[in-house]
Amino acid sequence: MKIFLDTANLDELKQAVDWQMIDGATTNPTLMARESGRKFSDMAKEICRLVPGPVSLEGVGLTVEALVKEGKKLSAIAKNVVFKVPMTVAGLKAVRALKKLGIKTNVTLVFSANQALLVAKAGADYCSPFVGRLDDIGQSGMGLIKEIVAIYKNYGFKTQVLAASIRSTVHVQAAAMAGADVATIPFKILEQMYQHSLTDKGIKAFLDDWQKVTK
Ligand code: E4P
Repeated sequence: MKIFLDTANLDELKQAVDWQMIDGATTNPTLMARESGRKFSDMAKEICRLVPGPVSLEGVGLTVEALVKEGKKLSAIAKNVVFKVPMTVAGLKAVRALKKLGIKTNVTLVFSANQALLVAKAGADYCSPFVGRLDDIGQSGMGLIKEIVAIYKNYGFKTQVLAASIRSTVHVQAAAMAGADVATIPFKILEQMYQHSLTDKGIKAFLDDWQKVTK
C-alpha cells in the first residue's frame, strides 16, 4: 500500500520525505488554511517540489467549466499535481474532460460504494472515501473501503482506492488488509506507525546488557 501524507505543513512534509517512507501527499482547503499567512500558489509549488510523488491539490469550482479551468491552472504548477474534485455531477464531468487533456484527478468526499462506482466509470485516477468521517456518524468507514476494493476488482477498474480521513494506526492497518491502493495519513499517525513500547524496552535492555559485555 502506498502511503501519502495528508498535510500542507512543510516541516511535516520535509521530515516524512527525509524518512523515505512517503509516496505522495494530499491537501485540501482546510489543510491549506491551517498554514496561515502563506500564499496558496507558493505553498503548492513548494509541496510539489518537496514530495517525490503525486500531490493532490483541491479545486473549489462548482461548475464543470470552473473546475476544468482550475484543473488546467493547478496542473501547470508541477508535473506531479493531481487535481482533486468533489463528488458531484459537475466534478465527474470535469474528470472526463480533464482526462482528455492528460490531467490526473482524485475525486474527494466519497461516502458510498455507488459514488465510488461512478468515480471509476468517469475514469478518475484516484477515489477518496473518507473513513473517519463515516465512523463519526456511526457508519463503517472501513466497510466502505472493502466494498469499493471488491467492486473495482470485479470490473478491473484502474481507479486507485485512496483511503482518506484516516484517524488512527488501526485505520492504516485495516486499509492495508482491505487492499486499499493508498492511505493518506496525518504526520502524527505516520510517527505512531514506527513505535511500539516493547521496541523501546528491548533497545534499552540490549544497550544495558552491552555495557556488561567484555570488550
Ligand atoms: C484527504 O484527501 C482528505 O481531504 C482528508 O483525509 C480529510 O480528512 P479529515 O476528515 O480528517 O478532515
